[in-house]
Amino acid sequence: MKAVMAQQMRSIDRTAIERYGIPGIVLMENAALAVVNRVMRRIQHHNDRRAAIVCGGGNNGGDGLAVARHLHQHGLNVKLYLLTNSSKFKGDAAVNFNIIKNSGVPYMQLDDEYALHEFYADIKNTDVIIDAIFGTGIKGEVTDLSADVINAINESSGYVISVDMPSGINSDTGEVCGCAVIADETVTFVLPKIGQIVYPGKKHVGRLSIADICIPRAAIDDEDISAGYITVDDIALPVREADSHKGDYGHVLVVGGSVGFSGAPIMAAKAAMRSGAGMVTAVVPYGIYNAAAASAQEVMIKPVTDDGVGRISAKALADILTLAQKADVMVIGPGMQVYDEIFCILRNIIDSIDIPIIVDADGLNAIAQQKDLLKNSKGNIILTPHPGEMSRLTGLPIGQIQCQRIDIARDFARQHNVVMVLKGAATVTACPSGWTYINSTGNAGMATAGSGDVLTGVIAAMACQYRCFDKASYIGAFIHGLAGDKAVENKGMHGLVAGDIIEMIPAAIKYIYN
Ligand code: ACO
Repeated sequence: MKAVMAQQMRSIDRTAIERYGIPGIVLMENAALAVVNRVMRRIQHHNDRRAAIVCGGGNNGGDGLAVARHLHQHGLNVKLYLLTNSSKFKGDAAVNFNIIKNSGVPYMQLDDEYALHEFYADIKNTDVIIDAIFGTGIKGEVTDLSADVINAINESSGYVISVDMPSGINSDTGEVCGCAVIADETVTFVLPKIGQIVYPGKKHVGRLSIADICIPRAAIDDEDISAGYITVDDIALPVREADSHKGDYGHVLVVGGSVGFSGAPIMAAKAAMRSGAGMVTAVVPYGIYNAAAASAQEVMIKPVTDDGVGRISAKALADILTLAQKADVMVIGPGMQVYDEIFCILRNIIDSIDIPIIVDADGLNAIAQQKDLLKNSKGNIILTPHPGEMSRLTGLPIGQIQCQRIDIARDFARQHNVVMVLKGAATVTACPSGWTYINSTGNAGMATAGSGDVLTGVIAAMACQYRCFDKASYIGAFIHGLAGDKAVENKGMHGLVAGDIIEMIPAAIKYIYN
C-alpha cells in the first residue's frame, strides 16, 4: 500500500474537503469513530471502563474531543485533559469542544500545578489512555508541559491508543522529537505515514491500524506518492502450474566463497532453492569445493580456478561467463573477499551480462573502492548493502545513513541506475524510478551472520519468477523477513541462525499463498 508524508496527507484531506465537498468535521468524526471502535474492542475484552483522553490544541486534539464524546455516550467513565486553553481551539476542534461543554463531558485544563497533580494521580489508575496531543502537525522539540504529560502517559500502566501518530514522533522521518508517547496501539487514517513504519517511530506505534475515513479513492490516486509500505496484501506470488517443470522457475548462479568463507555462497544458494528457484549453481574456488559440495545436496557446485590462496581467480572468468549464459539471475559477492582480482571479475561481469545481477557483501565492498564498476551496467543491478556497506558505498557515516535511510537509498538508486535494497530494521528498497518500498516484516533475531546471504538468495529466486527487479527486491525482502518471523515463532529470538531462516522460507511462502 502507499505510504505518505504529512504534506501529502494534508493535500489529500484538502482535496476531499475542497473538491468533493466533504466537510472537515465529517472527516474528524469518522476518524474519531475509528478510534472509538478500537477502544470498545479493548474495553469489551478486558472489561475496563476508565478512559483518559489527552488533547493538544490542534486538529489531533479535535479528534480526541470527538472520541471523548462518543466514549461518554457509550457509558464509559471518561475524563478529558486539555494541554491548551479551551478558548484557543479553532475550526472543527472548536466545534467539537462546544459539543463537549454542552454534553457535560468532564474536562480539565492542565494549566496549573494542582491540575497537573490531579492528572498524574488519575493517569495511574486509568485503563485506557487516548493520546491526541500531536498528530502530523508536530514541529520542533517537545518540551515543558507536553513533555511532562507524555512522560506520565509512558509511566502509566494503562493501555495507550494514539490518534494518528504517537505524540512526539515526526510523521515524515520517525524521529523522536525530544520525547514521544510509547503507544500500545496507533490508529492512523487513510494511509500509513512514513514516520510510523521506519525506526525509531515504529517502536512507538505499537499495533498499527489504518482506518478508512471515507476519503474518495480518487483523492488519493491524484496525489503524487512514490513510497510504499509492503505488507502481505501487496504480494501475489505466481501460481505454479500443474504441468510446469524446473526450467519454468529459473536458474540462479551464485558466484562467491573463499577459504574461511565457504558458507556464504551456500546459504545464498540454499535460500534461492527454498524460495522456489528451479535450479541453483554455486560457483566456488577449488579450495572450498569439498566443503561446499558436502553442505548443499540440491545445489550444483561448480569449482573454478582459485588464486592459490583459496579465492576465485580472474582466470575463472571465462568459465563464469559461460555458466551465466545458462542462468536467469546471478548473485555475486558472498564470501569472496576483496582482493585485486575481484575488480577484474566484477567489471567483466557487469559490463557483459544482462541478466539481473545481485551484488552483495564483498562485491559491494569492491564497488565501494571502485565506483566506476557500475558505469557500464545495463540497469540490471540490485545492490543489497547493510548500513556498514552503505556507509562504504556512499562515504557517509553510518549514523547519518540510519537517520536518512529512505533519502540516501533513493538518491543512490537514481544516481547509479540500480535497485538499492538497504538492509536493516524496516529494509528500504529504492528504485531508479524514485519509488521506495519499506518492508514490514523481520525482527531483531535476524541480526545474525549469514542473514544477508539468505536475503540475496531469496531476491534471486524472486528475480527468476518476476523479471521485474523492483518487485523481486521488495517481495524478496518481505519473504526473508516473514521467514525470520516464523523462525522466531518456532525457536525464539535468541540464538536464531541464518539456517533457521532458510528452513522457514517455504512456511513464509505458504502463508502468503493462503
Ligand atoms: N510543542 C508544543 N506544541 C506543538 C509542537 C511542539 N513541539 N508542535 C506542534 N505543536 C502544536 C501546534 O502549535 C498546533 O497547535 P495550534 O493549532 O494550537 O497552533 C498543534 O500542535 C498541531 O498539531 P496537530 O494537531 O498534530 O496538527 P493539525 O492541526 O495539523 O492536525 C491532523 C493533524 C489533521 C489531525 C492529522 O493528525 C490527521 O490526519 N488526523 C486524522 C484525520 C482528520 O481528523 N482529518 C481531518 C482534519 S480536518 C482538516 O484537516 C482540515
